[in-house]
Amino acid sequence: MKKYYITTPIYYPSDKLHIGHSYTTVAADALARFKRQTGYDVMFLTGTDEHGQKIERVAKNAGMEPKEYVDGIVEGIQKLWKLMDISHDDFIRTTDERHVQTVQRIFKKLYEQGDIYKGHYEGWYCTPCEAYWLERQLADGKCPDCGRPVELAKEEAYFFKMSKYADRLIKYINEHPEFIQPESRRNEMLNNFLLPGLEDLCVSRTSFKWVIPVDFDPGHVVYVWIDALSNYISALGYLSGDDSKFKEYWPADLHLVGKEIMRFHTIIWPILLMALGLPIPKQVYGHGWLMLEGGKMSKSKGNVVDPVKLINRYGVDAVRYFLLREVPFGSDGLYSSEALLTRTNSDLANDLGNLVSRTAAMIVKYFGGVIPSEYEATEFDSDVERRGTALHAQVEKHMDELRIPEALADIWDYIGVLNKYIDLTAPWVLAKDEANKPKLAGVMVHLAEGLRIVSVLLIPFLTDTAKRIRSILGIGDEALVSWESIAEFGPKVFGLHVTQTAPLFPRIDIQKELEALEEIADNRTLQKQKKLPPKESAKNEAPEGVITYDDFKKVRLKLGLVKCAETIDGSDKLLKLQVEMGGETRQIVSGIRKWYTPEQMTGKTVVVVANLKPAKLFGVESQGMLLAAEKDGDLKLVTVDGSLPSGADIS
Ligand code: ME8
Ligand code: MG
Repeated sequence: MKKYYITTPIYYPSDKLHIGHSYTTVAADALARFKRQTGYDVMFLTGTDEHGQKIERVAKNAGMEPKEYVDGIVEGIQKLWKLMDISHDDFIRTTDERHVQTVQRIFKKLYEQGDIYKGHYEGWYCTPCEAYWLERQLADGKCPDCGRPVELAKEEAYFFKMSKYADRLIKYINEHPEFIQPESRRNEMLNNFLLPGLEDLCVSRTSFKWVIPVDFDPGHVVYVWIDALSNYISALGYLSGDDSKFKEYWPADLHLVGKEIMRFHTIIWPILLMALGLPIPKQVYGHGWLMLEGGKMSKSKGNVVDPVKLINRYGVDAVRYFLLREVPFGSDGLYSSEALLTRTNSDLANDLGNLVSRTAAMIVKYFGGVIPSEYEATEFDSDVERRGTALHAQVEKHMDELRIPEALADIWDYIGVLNKYIDLTAPWVLAKDEANKPKLAGVMVHLAEGLRIVSVLLIPFLTDTAKRIRSILGIGDEALVSWESIAEFGPKVFGLHVTQTAPLFPRIDIQKELEALEEIADNRTLQKQKKLPPKESAKNEAPEGVITYDDFKKVRLKLGLVKCAETIDGSDKLLKLQVEMGGETRQIVSGIRKWYTPEQMTGKTVVVVANLKPAKLFGVESQGMLLAAEKDGDLKLVTVDGSLPSGADIS
């Protein structure tokens, strides 16, 4: 049997997976299901990427051991995939013993053969932040995070000889245009990263613990991307006691990843494989992002982006359909609740749902629910037959080119043909005259066969809907569900028992639904403002929860430089700061003591609300306010991306 190995990236454990995250997984699932349907032995892998400093910190803040923390999150992710009907064959966690062992063996093998060597990492080091910086990352020669002086540091570290393999990789990419897709990403990788020259990669760290240790050199730990990328082969048992799966499925046919991690997958990963003497995956495909209007996906604007909430409300297939159909594969797409509802109504409730209910209702009404086996042709049949036959190859071609939305468009074009066929043949007119009964039978047979073809084609995409259509049509026989069975328009549906049921997708009142969504949106600002008593409405006022540009301009934000900072006697929350803002120095009292020491604050660039009415805090006058972000008990001051003189206006 032909093999097909497809992977998603392994996900960072986050308890806030949004609808954008599910994009890679749903797309990979549709591809995996399609390959199974068309006769491949498929291995579909997904998993979680659980190591690293960030997790270590988050767990600590939550008062948990990192493993205990990730266990809970990973369980949630697995539940989400189940809810989304993801059909992965294996789920790899980078904390699995099988993975840890393989990573350590890979590291050792490369070290022993000289591709990983011990050297010195040289760079600027900020001791309080425990962070390394490159010369160009420094802000005025200081730590870009805290503004304090940095020192030149030299640390023992392991390096991976990327440079040695660069020419081989360039040659490989040029000879295998299908390796990096879409094409624009191939050019980006070549021009921006490979052709300018590769440096050896630092592949170990010493400063934190929640990572895979280098087993032959205590104190050193494996760089998280070497750890993460290896999942694609550790899951197959590479360098383990049983590598039968590895032999069966490697090289992967497709790594499906978001475009922001292409660089790791098309440069570091193939070079790592070359060094291990292993074949390179056949393709890495970088898909685009699902965006909210005005930027990257996050919770705002009253758009519900929690996939669980959306699925509970509209069903898994509405969400899967939107993701697969709306975003041109490879490009970015916009998410809005309105777009989701519109798609659901027009394509699912109207086009498909109506076709199914009308067909079922007519077969029940005119033929007692049994699809007739004797019939007469009508002059409109040929389009339904010809296009029904053509779909098989069309959809396969589009899927092989990873053009998922186009494959769905093929299917919906055909749904359109079937709907039009009902209008053209006007079965309710035929039904008026007993003499037309054979023709009426022909129309029902064609509609049912057309729908059978649609239901088979929908299997990879709308898993639940495909099943429901089969059940409405009374299809139980596997022979009517197989891929081969739709190679040609039959009809093959004679004698099936059709039942009438509730509509597949209830019609949504979009306006009402948007209002309801606004209520449940994960949006703190909106919720807060809802609780305010209604204001006397002035003529020019923006809708509730929205401010005009003029409103915003009333707040004067300026960049400030903290000249000195001290604690305030009797308060364990406050710091008193002297902040320079372009020639003037302000005294500001800020409740950040829990997160920042006076030493850390000195030299920091901060964002100040400059026209706030002065107030006394703990008897000390405060002439402004600092901006900070806070979540789950952690707080970080807002600052700017790069250095600008203090006093600069922020708008
Ligand atoms: O990158 N639209 O994990 P991750 C589309 N652990 N796709 C999105 C998206 C959006 N708005 N947001 C996230 C990692 N994704 C690493 C991978 S692999 C060896 C290590 C996609 O949890 C993103 O592009 O940040 C990626 O494909 C997947 O979600 C996981 O992202
Ligand atoms: Mg990411």
